[in-house]
Amino acid sequence: MDKKKLFTVMSLAIGLGTLTVLSDNTKINVSATDTSSVQKFGDINNDGFVDTVDATAVLIEYAHLSTSGKGTFTEVQTKNADIDNNGLVDAVDSAYILSYYAYVSAGGNTGFREWADEKINSSRPSTTTTTQSVQTTVSNSTTTTTTTTTVSGISKVSEIRLSKTEMKIEVGKTDISYVTMLPESATNKEEVWTSSDEKVATVDKWGNVKGVADGVCTVTVTSVDNPTVKAEIKVTVGKGNANKVSEIKLSKTEMKIEVGKTDISYVTMLPESATNKDEIWTSSDEKVATVDKWGNVKGVADGVCTVTVTSVDNPTVKAEIKVTVGKGNTHNFQQINGLTYVDGILVANKSYALPSTYSPEMDATTIQQFNLLSKAAANEGLNIYLSSGYRSYSQQDAIYNNYVSWYGQAQADTFSARPGHSEHQTGLAIDVNTIDDSFAGTPEAIWLENHAHEYGFIIRYPKGKESITGYKYEPWHIRYLGVEKATAVYNSGLTLEEYLGIDSYYH
Ligand code: DAL
Ligand code: ZN
Repeated sequence: MDKKKLFTVMSLAIGLGTLTVLSDNTKINVSATDTSSVQKFGDINNDGFVDTVDATAVLIEYAHLSTSGKGTFTEVQTKNADIDNNGLVDAVDSAYILSYYAYVSAGGNTGFREWADEKINSSRPSTTTTTQSVQTTVSNSTTTTTTTTTVSGISKVSEIRLSKTEMKIEVGKTDISYVTMLPESATNKEEVWTSSDEKVATVDKWGNVKGVADGVCTVTVTSVDNPTVKAEIKVTVGKGNANKVSEIKLSKTEMKIEVGKTDISYVTMLPESATNKDEIWTSSDEKVATVDKWGNVKGVADGVCTVTVTSVDNPTVKAEIKVTVGKGNTHNFQQINGLTYVDGILVANKSYALPSTYSPEMDATTIQQFNLLSKAAANEGLNIYLSSGYRSYSQQDAIYNNYVSWYGQAQADTFSARPGHSEHQTGLAIDVNTIDDSFAGTPEAIWLENHAHEYGFIIRYPKGKESITGYKYEPWHIRYLGVEKATAVYNSGLTLEEYLGIDSYYH
């Protein structure tokens, strides 16, 4: 009998209000091995046995408490019955006693307390603490350290590592990639395996991948604990794969065109030996840009869309071009070491990610300018201080996943950036004062709104611009651009996205 089953039986008994002593009266004599701890914790009626009588007593007490609010246990009994030490005598405690009873019947021989401790500890989530300190020189003589501590009650899986991320197998053969769920302290390391194409390869619940027919597919392992955390294996099956398209390369992956004008990106289907190199072109928004069957992209109206080329031979293989249409889009885009600069401004938003390895720490000029800002505010009797500055990719990962576990992904995405997408990872963003809605409308918030640009900062996520920035109003989040650029953005009344002609959504 497992604990879950026992628990169901007991809850039912409570629901029906028929609380009789459970029928099986077999007693487990554990007093010989563990007298004191048995009597103290499991043996409610003090008869030297941990058995269904004890479990029933706990259930009856629980029923009394929940119906009349009055208990019948003595203080000692109550204390003894509260196996999981949560301050309540409840069905969970009965479940522990009944499970122990089942465990001993099946040959288990640990003492009750020892057994219960192990069960309780293994079902209790461990706690993880992330601490971030930022040193701020306020003046030449004063240094303050701001420490932000995030405590998460649940140690959740935040990363899955695989021993291999590519497999080449023949039809009928199997291969496996070993899985490491991180952090080590995660309580639920269960995994789910899926194949993108079971006609090419199947995968069983232990991760054994089996080749079914020539082709390419993706096998994905997902954390049960945190389904946003996944890892993938690119699986190539069969001898004939040398002739199948497995990758598409484009001569350009970004285009900026004016209305009525066209542009083209040249396509290379790989491997060179692939027999069918046919392609299909599609546009995510034909009102912005169309694409013909040869890949000619034509601007229709101001906006942004994605043009996709897909292999006819292997439709899971695709490549994308980000197309920006419009006269205003004369901005200068640069990709340097995986970072996107638009008109020289480093961009991190939902559309533009930073590499996970990018860890610049807090920018020195940003801190210097923030100190000037803080001083100027102090001269007017206002207290503006740094609450959160630079955050690494992994810190953002922990923060974001924590929010997802509490609020769900859709809601978390309205106020927390996915790892790699947070401006805090640039070292150029600062959250000031109280990081919640209570900051809005305070004298400090009003001053910041009117003066941040004088020190080179903009309020990055203004009110009413959620659909453009991708985030709800954050009066406390400022971004350093330098005085000239921040003043220009301030005077334009635009968000940074509008100012640079970019968008912010997860593609
Ligand atoms: N709260 C902002 C959007 C971030 O997580 O970076
Ligand atoms: Zn922020």
